[in-house]
Amino acid sequence: MIRLEGVRFRYPRGPEAVRGVTLSIEDGEFVGVVGHSGAGKTTLAKLIAGLLKPSEGRVLVDGMDTRFVPASALARKVGYVFQNPEAMLFSATILDEVAFALRNFGFPPGEVEGRVRAALEKVDLRKPLSASPHALSFGEKRRLAIACILAMDPSVVVLDEPTTGLDYARCLSLFETLRKLNEEGRTVIVITHDTDLLARFAERVVVLEAGAVVRDGPSREVLSDVEFLREHGFTPTQLQVLASRLGAPAPTPSAVAETLARAWARRAR
Ligand SMILES: Nc1ncnc2c1ncn2[C@@H]1O[C@H](COP(=O)(O)OP(=O)(O)O)[C@@H](O)[C@H]1O
Ligand SMILES: [Mg+2]
Repeated sequence: MIRLEGVRFRYPRGPEAVRGVTLSIEDGEFVGVVGHSGAGKTTLAKLIAGLLKPSEGRVLVDGMDTRFVPASALARKVGYVFQNPEAMLFSATILDEVAFALRNFGFPPGEVEGRVRAALEKVDLRKPLSASPHALSFGEKRRLAIACILAMDPSVVVLDEPTTGLDYARCLSLFETLRKLNEEGRTVIVITHDTDLLARFAERVVVLEAGAVVRDGPSREVLSDVEFLREHGFTPTQLQVLASRLGAPAPTPSAVAETLARAWARRAR
């Protein structure tokens, strides 16, 4: 679905933020992208969404080279949810907000409201269509921003640090929503620092460092490799340390609990 071939990107009068990334993401994958601040995660996400064009190499979205495809065609394939939802919201009502891109891209007016309602339902945002986006809580704004993207019915959803500013319960429910989208067959690419959530929800993790991919593999494998995490300046979570000490491949709460229970049963015998 997504293919990056030798992609480099340099900001005008800025650093080379992406330095030779080759990466394929298949249709229907749930991929986490992690890396320190400044590693190039946002730049990579914008390259995938076609908001930035590579300085070198190419990005293919479902076979379309992002350099040569109109924004409207790309927006129907890949939706990018900005890190700060407030940066995406500017309309007077929820309806206008979610309908904005639809109207812009010429969806028939009769189809717009239905799509808006369906998108809001997907993110479980139950507010009157006439309500102001600015009156929503931060978490609701985040869900609204995701709905704006979903209204276009994209095959790929890219979310840039969507858990920022959310408490744990809201993070979980956001990831449940992402899982639902993924189960519908959408490709989900999520940038986050929350590696415990990735271990639980993502099947694959890509680690970026200084604009390059330094690790790419099954999330449970990458995220239980405590030595690798430390070497690259990540602080493994307690769950990851515990999983690694237990020799458990999966640092998810349920996997750790299972391993502990098995070890306990062996001792009791
Ligand atoms: N608009 C910009 N202009 C110039 N430099 C930028 C711009 N955006 C990001 N950068 C630089 O590019 C590098 C990668 O940034 P970014 O992709 O935002 O990383 P991350 O999302 O992993 O924190 C950093 O060195 C950052 O300072
Ligand atoms: Mg970023």
